[in-house]
Amino acid sequence: MHNINLENVELLITDSLQAVGLKEEEAKICAKNIAFADQQGTDTHGIMRLPIYIERLKNGLFNSKPNTQWVRENETSAVLDGDNGMGHYSAQLAMEKAIKKAEEKGIGITTLYNGNHIGAGACYTKMAAEKGMIGFLTTNAGPLMAPTGGTERLLGNNPICYAVPRREKDPIVLDIANSIVAGGKLQLASSKSEEIPLGWALDKEGKPTTDPDRGLEGVLLPIGGHKGYGLTLMMDILAGVLSGASYSKNIPHLDEEGKTGVGCTMIAFKIENFMELEHFYDRLDDFTSLIVDSKKAPGFERILLPGEIESETKDKRLQEGTQISDSLRQELVTMLDDLQLQTDKYGL
Ligand SMILES: NC(=O)c1ccc[n+]([C@@H]2O[C@H](COP(=O)([O-])OP(=O)(O)OC[C@H]3O[C@@H](n4cnc5c(N)ncnc54)[C@H](O)[C@@H]3O)[C@@H](O)[C@H]2O)c1
Repeated sequence: MHNINLENVELLITDSLQAVGLKEEEAKICAKNIAFADQQGTDTHGIMRLPIYIERLKNGLFNSKPNTQWVRENETSAVLDGDNGMGHYSAQLAMEKAIKKAEEKGIGITTLYNGNHIGAGACYTKMAAEKGMIGFLTTNAGPLMAPTGGTERLLGNNPICYAVPRREKDPIVLDIANSIVAGGKLQLASSKSEEIPLGWALDKEGKPTTDPDRGLEGVLLPIGGHKGYGLTLMMDILAGVLSGASYSKNIPHLDEEGKTGVGCTMIAFKIENFMELEHFYDRLDDFTSLIVDSKKAPGFERILLPGEIESETKDKRLQEGTQISDSLRQELVTMLDDLQLQTDKYGL
């Protein structure tokens, strides 16, 4: 493993994206949003994905000079055409717009089509929470799951993400894929030559497997059986069908040919629509203390709120940096050489 500090992670990503044609401002926004995942410990969605983004930008599968534009808008909603640019940029614009509308009208709902992979959903919903609003986001992804009773890969593990602000504390953030684990966890296990637990995936013959590569060829299992299938279907209706984006098996994976055409739906709403913010914070403090102070099950010292693990990881990693595997380091070194960027500059 190799340690790298988070400022270097962000700088490396910014420089690499600019080297393949992104404008400085867009590269910086994408770098901040990609490094967000490394910062909070969502390693499957951070710098690990940079080589494939760069590859796609170089070969034109992502547009490095997108004409991102709002194509439909009213007081509380708007639709963004991402023009196949980096998802981390268009998703930022979509959440900023939802927040602005919520500031003015109490609620903002935006959709995005012609988007791409946005990384960790929490990055965007936390923007709403930082403004004292509740944020929601869903996005769709290349198919990895079969509907209950089916065998074909037809549904992405479309994440569901909520962020709820708290008084003087980090927000409560639930950011989950609809598969038992995100596909990135299989990729990470594969890159480290590790097995995966039984129950994460089936191979292409429909048999349970501990081999991440066989799982990646087969299907991921949804959370909670038909309930997870139902949730992921609904998220594809919001992020794909409603937004005008691609959906289901029409979304290629990042390592496949073709434009992904990914979509998103984002919502920001003001708590003051319902009650005074301070009153909400009082009630939320009371509610969360009922949860975290409750009796622990054997083997558990703490009950966590969603988002706490990531919040604690962020505090640690901002001090200590993050660890990347030797194989990822080598991949990044090769990528930087190819882009004619100096490896030493980033502490690799
Ligand atoms: N962009 C995409 O297409 C895409 C697709 C799938 C997943 N993702 C991202 O992948 C990331 C990981 O998803 P995942 O489903 O593997 O995450 P996960 O299974 O690690 O769950 C993460 C969530 O569960 C909470 N959590 C974990 N343990 C907890 C505990 N003991 N008590 C309370 N809460 C707890 C975390 O705070 C977090 O909100 C997310 O950021 C998601 O947005 C993105």
